Parts: sequence; structure tokens; C-alpha cells
Amino acid sequence: MTKILLKNGQVGCALGLYDADVLIEDGKIVNTFDWGQKHEVDETIDCKGKIILPGVIDVHVHLREPGQKYKEDWTTGTKAAVAGGVTTICDMPNNVPPILTVKDLEEKRKLVAKKAYCNYGLYMGFDGKNISEINKAENIPAVKVYVANSTGNMGVGTETIAELFKKCNKFIVAHAEDEGMIKEKALEYLAEYGARIDDDGKLIVPKESEIDPSVHSKIRSADCAASAVKFLCELAKENGKRLHVAHVSSDQELTMLLEYQNLDEAGQPRITCEVAPHHLLLSDDDYATFGNLIKVNPPVRSKMDLFTMWKALKFGEVHIIATDHAPHTLVEKEQGYMDCPSGIPELDTLLPILLNAVNDGGLEMKEVVKLCCESPAKIFGMKNKGQVEAGFDADLVVVDMEKMFEVKNEKLFTKCKWSPYAGSTFKGCPVMTFVNGELVYKNGKIVGKKVGKEVQFEKTV
Ligand code: DOR
Ligand code: ZN
Repeated sequence: MTKILLKNGQVGCALGLYDADVLIEDGKIVNTFDWGQKHEVDETIDCKGKIILPGVIDVHVHLREPGQKYKEDWTTGTKAAVAGGVTTICDMPNNVPPILTVKDLEEKRKLVAKKAYCNYGLYMGFDGKNISEINKAENIPAVKVYVANSTGNMGVGTETIAELFKKCNKFIVAHAEDEGMIKEKALEYLAEYGARIDDDGKLIVPKESEIDPSVHSKIRSADCAASAVKFLCELAKENGKRLHVAHVSSDQELTMLLEYQNLDEAGQPRITCEVAPHHLLLSDDDYATFGNLIKVNPPVRSKMDLFTMWKALKFGEVHIIATDHAPHTLVEKEQGYMDCPSGIPELDTLLPILLNAVNDGGLEMKEVVKLCCESPAKIFGMKNKGQVEAGFDADLVVVDMEKMFEVKNEKLFTKCKWSPYAGSTFKGCPVMTFVNGELVYKNGKIVGKKVGKEVQFEKTV
């Protein structure tokens, strides 16, 4: 394989930026060197004025294969990833059918192998009955448990979740919303549209065409999420298990998480959490512009919550930024409130959004590296990922902090071809993305092959 020198750039790490050349060979980082040292190489790429970051690791995406390729497939989804500076994804199990058994997992492994432009890990799901399958599964980032129903209706009862915490030998990632509270609030807030429960327990809403989309944030309120966070943290505490809470969106959830926070022997938090870009950029004021397009679970929150989430990133109360990339077609999203599926596509725009924040002073580059590269690799135990260091995988993204990135639906790589950020311009964007030492994305184009491999996970509990 070729030896490539990325020279004259600045390298990003969790301590900040430093001037260095990066030498890569056989898909690995050989080392970083002072500018100007001589190396025998096959190719030299001048990165003057650019920053070389570890490739972003997105631990929360929904690429829809198997089962819903019309929304997204592994080719389009991983193209969107590398365009957004992401070199590793962890794909959620709410496929059709969901990934619940070792057989499902192996079939998905076969299905996606050789289809990915970036590296990947595959979650298993929990249906209340499959703990022995979860325990048998090998090399998964975690088991995903839904405390409430969301896309794919994978919500499970609280007793079974308690059993999962007792018996499962894997890391647990949770979607934290309280199903009972959501049901109650749906009846309350949809009463003006004639809502009632029919004999089969189904929610009927006669005037559904009149529903204002902003009701979503009231029905799936922050206290629903905080209640589920409390329930999960209690179980983690009781069972001495680590827990990762997906897409935290509100002050209330963070306050609850802080109450339960404690560190392990290595000084690492036992309970970790992530925030999604939409919970940093969009608020319930935005329903007026976007309607159901921004219907997502958990929902967008108040402006005050947005501010709290940015503050939490600064204070280290949130450990990871992950997209929750959840593509649905525009036709599906343009339906009325009851039929519109929840979810927002986010992969194409991830780094432009964060680099723009660095340019604005909202984040520092070292914080981006920590939140998007180093911490996800450490928390999920990904071997040789997340740092520009000798011996690590050559997953790199070269960024230009001056370059403007105008979001245009037709230029997105995600199959669903829409974004709530269309029309926005972000300052700072990826110009080159390397996966396993291969250049796969350059200046708006996919230029490489499907070189993505399954990640090796070093710890499971
Ligand atoms: O809004 C959401 N969309 N939340 C989820 O939990 C699932 C996701 C999806 O798969 O569409
Ligand atoms: Zn999700």
C-alpha cells in the first residue's frame, strides 16, 4: 500500500492544535512529525492552512438497511457520513426486521459488508425476551434499549429492562422517554382534536389534519425524558452497570444525570450521554417554519434548553456529539402529525455545523475532537480509533476553517435529500476524508472506494 504524507497542516487532539506532518502507511498512522522532516513517500498532500483531525465517530445513526432502503441504504448513508467528516458509524437496530438475534446480526453483517465508505459497528436491539441472544452476540458496540416507542416501535416494559440490567453482559445504550407519561400527555394535548382511546387501546384523533406540529414537544415533554433517565440511572446504580443515554435534549435530563453521576476506578464516568445536532440548533420556535419536518424523538425543546445543552458540552456534562441521523423521505415527512415519522437526517452536515460553532467561538476545536473522536472511541472501546497517534487507524478528516458550506438539498448524499439546514451557510467544512488510509471524499465528491470495515470493540460491559 502507498505511503502518504499530509504535510504543513495543524493536527487536532483533545489538548488543542499543533503544527505537524502526518505520515500514513498501510491504513495506519505511522506518526506525526515536525514540519519539514524528510520522508520517503509515494504521495505528498499539502495541508497548509488546513487542520487534520481524527475522523469523526458517530455512535448513533439509522441507515435503514435491511428493510427500508427507499429511505437510505449503506452506500448513500456512508457517503453522507464521509462528506460530513465521519469515518466510523454505529448503526442502530431498528431495522425491518429489527436486529434481535445473533442470526439477524450475522445477516446484517453480511448484507452491509463491502457497502460502506466508512467504518462501522452494528448494535443489537432488545425486545424484552432476547437477553440470551444479546449475551451471545460478538463485537457489538452495545445493546440499544427503547424505554418508549419511537420509529420501529421497539419500546419495552420496565420490568424487562430491569432484567436486562441484571443479566446482560453488554454495554447498554438507552432511548430514554417514559411511555406511560407520553400516552397520558397525548390524550391531554390532543383532546382539542377529539382524541380518545378505542376498544383496542388505539389512539384515535378525529381532527388529526388540524394538529399543530408543536404539540409533539408538549406530548413528549422534557419531564417524560427525565423520568426515564431516572429509571435507567437507578438500574445502572443498583446493578453496578455502565449506561449511555442517547440524545439528551433538556435541562431536566441533565440535572437527573448529574444526580447519579459517579466515576469508575479509572476516573471515567459510569453514566455517559450524547447530544444530537438538532438539540443544539433547533428549538420549538422552529415548528412555525418547518412543521413536522423537525418532528423527532425526543423532540426539539425550548430556546433555554438549547442554551443549556451548549453549556453542558462546555462543562463536560455531555460526553459525545452523535447525529441520530434518521432519514425519512420528504413525502413521508410532509404527512400530517399522526402519520409523519419522527427523525431528521444529519450526517452530511455534522462537521460543518460544529466547525461553524468553532468559528463562532461556541466550541473550541479541542472540544470537538474530544466530543466527536476521542470520547466516543473510549466510551465504546473502539480499538485504534479516535486519535491522530502512531499505530492508530488512518481515519482522518482535513478541514478548511475558512471555506463556506452552503447546505443545498440536491447536493446532500443522504438518499432522502432534505435537511432542515437547507439554505444555511456554515463556515468551516471537511475538504478531504481518509478512511483506513484511503482518500474517499474530496471537495464535495466521493473519490474513493467502499473501504469501510467493521470496528473492533475492546470492551463490552
Ligand atoms: O426521531 C427518531 N427517529 N427517534 C428515534 O428514536 C428513532 C429515529 C428513527 O429511526 O427514525
Ligand atoms: Zn436514534
